[in-house]
Amino acid sequence: VMAPPEEILGIKPDGKYNVPAGVREKLGKNLLLNSKHPLGILWKTVQEYFAEQDSNCKFFDTEKPVVSTVDCFDKLRVPPDHVSRSPSDTYYVNADYVLRTHTSAHQCQFLSQYPEITSFLCAGDVYRRDEIDASHYPAFHQCEGVRLFDAQKVSKEEVMEDLKKTLEGLAAHLFQLKTGEDTMRWLDEYFPFTEPSLELEIFYNEDWMEVLGCGVIHHDVLRNAGLDPEKVHGWAFGLGLERLAMVLFGIPDIRLFWSDDARFAQQFSEGSFSEKTKFKPFSKYPPVLKDISMWIPEDFVDNDLFEMIRDEGGDQVEKVDLLDEFTHPKTGRSSKMFRVTWRDMSRTLTNEEVNAKHEKVLERVVEKANWKEVS
Ligand code: PHE
Repeated sequence: VMAPPEEILGIKPDGKYNVPAGVREKLGKNLLLNSKHPLGILWKTVQEYFAEQDSNCKFFDTEKPVVSTVDCFDKLRVPPDHVSRSPSDTYYVNADYVLRTHTSAHQCQFLSQYPEITSFLCAGDVYRRDEIDASHYPAFHQCEGVRLFDAQKVSKEEVMEDLKKTLEGLAAHLFQLKTGEDTMRWLDEYFPFTEPSLELEIFYNEDWMEVLGCGVIHHDVLRNAGLDPEKVHGWAFGLGLERLAMVLFGIPDIRLFWSDDARFAQQFSEGSFSEKTKFKPFSKYPPVLKDISMWIPEDFVDNDLFEMIRDEGGDQVEKVDLLDEFTHPKTGRSSKMFRVTWRDMSRTLTNEEVNAKHEKVLERVVEKANWKEVS
């Protein structure tokens, strides 16, 4: 851990500060707000399901990820000595403020707005000290959901029924499943802030997979939010977005969500959920770049060139970009510059071998199309 900054999102660090630079730089990345990022696409999809279910449902995704230990733990009945609070599990900004370890940290602030707010989703980045491997990363994303009912009109059994029906419906919508015992099952769980607590699993890709944790909101939590459990009660759930997005979009490594690599980002768009987009893995090995500049013949279309390059380079040609276009003011002839990205999926290409192939491409361009001035 390097020296702490002056402040993190308005909170001044003290001796308890334990946020490494690599984690701190994740703050403000706002992946969920990017409608073309797999996590943003999934968050949108969850919102759409709830908006359709319940037109009063409110959505929040801009809450600050630095929260008080009171909101993150105390109000949720997490005991003072619980491991989840220890600095070996949690990033502290100072003795009283942490990087939120779950979106449940925002439950009480929204609960206290009842009856203006009767149901809400709150999504955001959350942080836990963890190993880093293909499925674990110290920063990830959750979506919290809450629905409240008039306790004088709706019984606890009806709350439980609504919880199960709504969340089974969500799982069915996300994974295109029929609800039923062979595709979904409920297991008993424990969370200090819900009672009873449950976990939903779905049978997907030949295996049972945990989808979410949930339960009936504990009376103490309602009281901590200033509500009277005799008058209002409800359910809550928490959903980890990465694991679901990995399964939905075939993303093999959790680290890819944070990648700046355009080859990741370019594979997804707003429509990726309905189009069932599956990620195509790309190489970790470095590219070799080769440029082609040419005067454009009369009947030239870019695709003719692309086809020749592909024909010569096969799968080692990752892409061809048009870098520049120029029309001579006097002669009216135009020239184009293309950049070919060569890359192999399983090894580092040498400049020499790419040169040899690039030469062949140039020969073909000159010979086949009789495009003379090629460099
Ligand atoms: N906050 C819990 C977690 O991070 C999930 C949860 C939310 C469970 C709401 C019950 C109700 O695992």
